[in-house]
Amino acid sequence: MLAQEIIRAKREGRALSEAELQAFVGGITDGGWSDAQVAAMAMAVLLRGMGRAETTALTLAMAHSGERLDWAAADLPGPVLDKHSTGGVGDKVSLMLAPIVAACGGFVPMVSGRGLGHTGGTLDKLASWPGYQLTPEPARMQRVLRDAGCVIVGASARLAPADRRLYAIRDVTATVESLPLITASILSKKLAAGLQALVMDVKVGNGAFCATGAEAEALARSLVEVAGAAGLPARALVTDMNQVLGRHAGNALEVSEAIGFLAGTAREPRLLELTLALSGELLALGGLAASAAEGAARAREVLASGKAAECFARMVRGLGGPADVLAANGAELPRAPVVRPLPAPADGHLGLVDTRALGLVIVELGGGRRRAEDPIDPRVGLADVLPPGSAVQRGEPLLWVHAASDDAADAALARLATLLCVLDPRQARPAEPGPVVCAVIQTDALQCQLFSR
Ligand code: URA
Repeated sequence: MLAQEIIRAKREGRALSEAELQAFVGGITDGGWSDAQVAAMAMAVLLRGMGRAETTALTLAMAHSGERLDWAAADLPGPVLDKHSTGGVGDKVSLMLAPIVAACGGFVPMVSGRGLGHTGGTLDKLASWPGYQLTPEPARMQRVLRDAGCVIVGASARLAPADRRLYAIRDVTATVESLPLITASILSKKLAAGLQALVMDVKVGNGAFCATGAEAEALARSLVEVAGAAGLPARALVTDMNQVLGRHAGNALEVSEAIGFLAGTAREPRLLELTLALSGELLALGGLAASAAEGAARAREVLASGKAAECFARMVRGLGGPADVLAANGAELPRAPVVRPLPAPADGHLGLVDTRALGLVIVELGGGRRRAEDPIDPRVGLADVLPPGSAVQRGEPLLWVHAASDDAADAALARLATLLCVLDPRQARPAEPGPVVCAVIQTDALQCQLFSR
C-alpha cells in the first residue's frame, strides 16, 4: 500500500479502511513513512476529520504498535483502573486519586506525562523528589503496584511508540488540535497500559486546551465513545479550569499540597470536590461502588481514615522516594530561595484571572519547558493563590511567588500585577466561579448528563 495513495484518500475526505490505518501506523513505527508523509497525513486528518469507526481503528493500531502491559499474570485481587487529565494549572488530582482508589481496592498503574505548554505534568511533579524512580523496571513496578495499590511512573518508550513519533511531528506541524488525533494519542497509551476502566478529566476554560464547553464536550464524547468501542469502559468529566486548581501551582509546591491533602491538614474545597467526583466515577466504573455517589463517599472515608495517605506513602517509599513521606510532611522537597508576596493594590475583590497566563509565569520562572529538552526547576511556582471573587484588603497577599532568584521574582511579580486585578465592589460585581464539574459523559449507556453552567 503506497503511503501517498493513503494520504491522497484522506486528503479527498474518504474514510480510511482498517488496513490503510494499519499501514499508516506501521509506517510511523518502523520508519517506513518519512516525517513529511506522516505530517501530510496528520494535516489531512486535521482538515478532513475522521469518523468514530476510523478513529477507533487508528487508536487500536497505535495501542498495538509496541509493548502492552498485561496484568492478568499478576493476578491482582481488584480491577486495574486509571485516570487521565487533559491538563491544567495546579492540577495535582492524580497524586491523590491514585492512592484513594488503591485504598478502596483498585489497582492504579498510572503512566503519567510531562508538562505540556502552560500546563503541569504529574511526572514533573514527582521528579521533585530526589531518588523517586520515574521509570522503574517492570518487576519493581509490579511489586509496588501489588504492595501499595498504585504506582505513578513515566511512559516507557516501548509503550505505544507510534504515538511518540506522531506526537512529536504534530507538535511542530500545527496538527495537534485534531479531535481524532488527540483521541487516538491519549487512548492508545491507556489501552496499551492494560486497564479495565478509565476516568478522564477534560478541562474547559481559560487555563485549558479547550476554551469552550462545546469543544470540551466534543473531545469528551470522542474519548468515551472510542474507548467504549475499543473495549475500555470509560467516563469523562468536563471540569472547570478558569482558576488555579487548589492553592499551589508549581511542581514541588503541588506535591506538598498533595501530601497535606492526604494527611488532612489542608483540603482546598474545589480540589476536594473534583478529587472525590473523579474517584467516585472511577470506583463505580471499576465495580468497587454501586454508583458514583457511593464511590465518592468511599473516597471520603479512606481520606478520613488515613488509608489513602498510607497507600501514597507506600508507593513513594517503594519507588525510592522518602521513607516516610507523611511524617516528613514535604520537608525533603526542594524549596525556592526567594519567596515574595504579590500585595493587593487596594481593598476590593479579586477579578477573574487569565489562568493560562499564570501557567506561563510558572514556565518563565523555570517550572515548565520552553523547549522539549529544557530542565525543570522543581522549586518554583505560585503558592496560596487566592481564588477569583475573594474579598481582599490593600496589602494582603494575593499569592506568593517562589523563585530561583530576586530577578526572576521581580519579573514574575511585574507580570502578575498586570494579570490579577482587584475590583472596587461599588463598581463591579464579585466574580462568581462556576461549578467544578460541568458535565459527566459516559459510554455505558452512551448518555450525556449536563449540569447547569
Ligand atoms: N495529550 C496527549 O497525550 N496527546 C495529545 O494529542 C494531546 C494531549
